[in-house]
Amino acid sequence: MNLAELNTIAQAMVTPGKGILAADESSGTIKKRFDAIGAASTADSRRDYRELLFRSLDAMSGRISGVILYDETIRQTARDSTPLVRLIEQTGSIPGIKVDKGTKPLPFCPGEVVTEGLDGLRERFVEYRGLGAKFAKWRAVIDIGPGIPTETCIACNAHALARYAALSQEEGIVPIVEPEVLMDGGHDIELCYEVTEWVLKTVFDELYRQRVTLEGMVLKPNMVVPGQQSPKRASVEEVAEKTVRVLKSCVPGAVPGIAFLSGGQSDVEATAHLDAINKIGGLPWKVTFSYGRALQAAPLTAWKGENTNVPAAQRAFSHRARMNGLATLGEWKKELETA
Ligand code: 13P
Repeated sequence: MNLAELNTIAQAMVTPGKGILAADESSGTIKKRFDAIGAASTADSRRDYRELLFRSLDAMSGRISGVILYDETIRQTARDSTPLVRLIEQTGSIPGIKVDKGTKPLPFCPGEVVTEGLDGLRERFVEYRGLGAKFAKWRAVIDIGPGIPTETCIACNAHALARYAALSQEEGIVPIVEPEVLMDGGHDIELCYEVTEWVLKTVFDELYRQRVTLEGMVLKPNMVVPGQQSPKRASVEEVAEKTVRVLKSCVPGAVPGIAFLSGGQSDVEATAHLDAINKIGGLPWKVTFSYGRALQAAPLTAWKGENTNVPAAQRAFSHRARMNGLATLGEWKKELETA
């Protein structure tokens, strides 16, 4: 492991003005997204869609520091036979790979899941490095509900995240450590704060135990928000203030950057929150985005699976990438959305 190299990659992933495109939907998840726009999900249509994103030059070269790929995608070539990984690199963006294998029910913990994928991971990292991956992602999922989360669920998921992160760094690949507290349910923002604090404290404890180098990782957390069904809504300022507070109390300044997931927030909401967080300023880490849905909802809707809609989809993607890029600098304004 070369620490300086890991740190250089991590710093590049969180370059101010830029952020990460999460395009690592599993085949099941991307099918759901395609179903919603009436597009068929085949290996070719998935390739065509991702190719249109990676060929959005304005967005990719100006606003997207890195792209998280799925196992299928990192092996695919564009229509003209250029590997998709090469397309990404040509824009100056960094290719990364999702390495977890999704969640499974956690025994004796009804309603809770644990992320799998550690078996054989060392060998898979060697292969992914050969395919061009410079960073990786593993997502743990924590749900809030009656009686959950449990200590068991948080401990198991933190342990797996740290095991993954250590194996990733051993192979010279920067781990994105993603403990996602879901925004499903009717809980209020205070409960999201408490659970997020508990999860982050546990995760950083495990990272320490497993000798993960904080300078060579990126944290991908949820923001502190009320559950989607909560009648008690929170202002943009409150979300920003509580999110900054919990991160400051849990995330060491040695971590180069924090790249939020969007987690079901609308695209403009996700931008507004990120902007408000950066407007607070004086933070010890770079704070950016690693959005899936909040970057892709607009281009997917514009594309609808039709070749003729590619330019419109690219414009929609470039717009969201620019808005979020400005938000990483605290320079976004609502009026820019319609300008
Ligand atoms: P969302 O931004 O859609 O939550 O996706 C980010 C991600 O990579 C989840 O693992």
